[in-house]
Amino acid sequence: MTPPTAPATLERSESLDLFDAVGDTITELVATHKSRREHWYFQDFVPWEAGRNFRDEPWDESQCTLAPEVRTALVLNLLTEDNLPYYHARLATAFPPDSPMADWSGLWTAEEGQHAIAMRCYLLASRNCDPRGLENDRMVTVQRGWKNDFVDPIEVFVYTSAQELATRISHRNAGVLADDPVAYELMSRVAADENHHFMFYRGVVTAMLEQNPSLVLDAMVTVFEGFEMPGTGIPKYLRRAIAMAKAGVYNLRIHADKVVSPLMRDWRIGDLTDLTPAGAEAQEKLMAMPDKLLEAAEHFERRVGILPKLA
Ligand SMILES: [Fe+2]
Ligand SMILES: [Fe+2]
Repeated sequence: MTPPTAPATLERSESLDLFDAVGDTITELVATHKSRREHWYFQDFVPWEAGRNFRDEPWDESQCTLAPEVRTALVLNLLTEDNLPYYHARLATAFPPDSPMADWSGLWTAEEGQHAIAMRCYLLASRNCDPRGLENDRMVTVQRGWKNDFVDPIEVFVYTSAQELATRISHRNAGVLADDPVAYELMSRVAADENHHFMFYRGVVTAMLEQNPSLVLDAMVTVFEGFEMPGTGIPKYLRRAIAMAKAGVYNLRIHADKVVSPLMRDWRIGDLTDLTPAGAEAQEKLMAMPDKLLEAAEHFERRVGILPKLA
């Protein structure tokens, strides 16, 4: 078999060599995903019976049945899903086109595509969002696009592991807090897809750690220190993200307790040995990260009045 060829934008690097070294594992993980994934149809989850014509009966906030913070969370999460073309582009160009990632990125894109369709249909049929506002925001969001600094193959897998897990939690929490069986069922369904994506990316990182732990730890520090959800270009992002944080859909405490700490445990970061001095330093930084995040979470919670201020 001829070795995969890197696209012109990718230079050979230690990271790309590590990516090649785990090629068989990626092929196996794609096969596992295909056997585990459940095929579903968004139309089965949408309350079509609640739908009315917006021209004859324009939208008004009084028609909403969900709490404002839950609507904010669902809209922000939907607009984040709307930016899929940019995520696909990033994933498709981060790896050689003849690598096993080509198979994955096609399937992953197809699965992600249904999330925005399903959430938009739910929000419009149930009148839980301003349809014109949503479309205006989608236009701005997609025109702004999305990019992040993680272009190195290892960083891409570390970032996507954390991002898929975070998205799973955010979708699921939005569904739970909606206190509406239809929203709960739909968001649990979407979250189940995100969980499968998370398991794929986490599995690739696990294999990389076995081969070259020091290199991977270094990439992890870069990713976790600069971690941002991929929605920062969305209009009113900060205001919306703060509302979601206060509501407990997604915030720094959840990020520390439900994303960073579990990943550190899953990848056994604290148990890794035979590290280079740089790897050992990265390990130390990573192990300290959950506590640092929790400190920042407490600071935020005091500022917004969730925790009492210290005397
Ligand atoms: Fe998604
Ligand atoms: Fe996903």
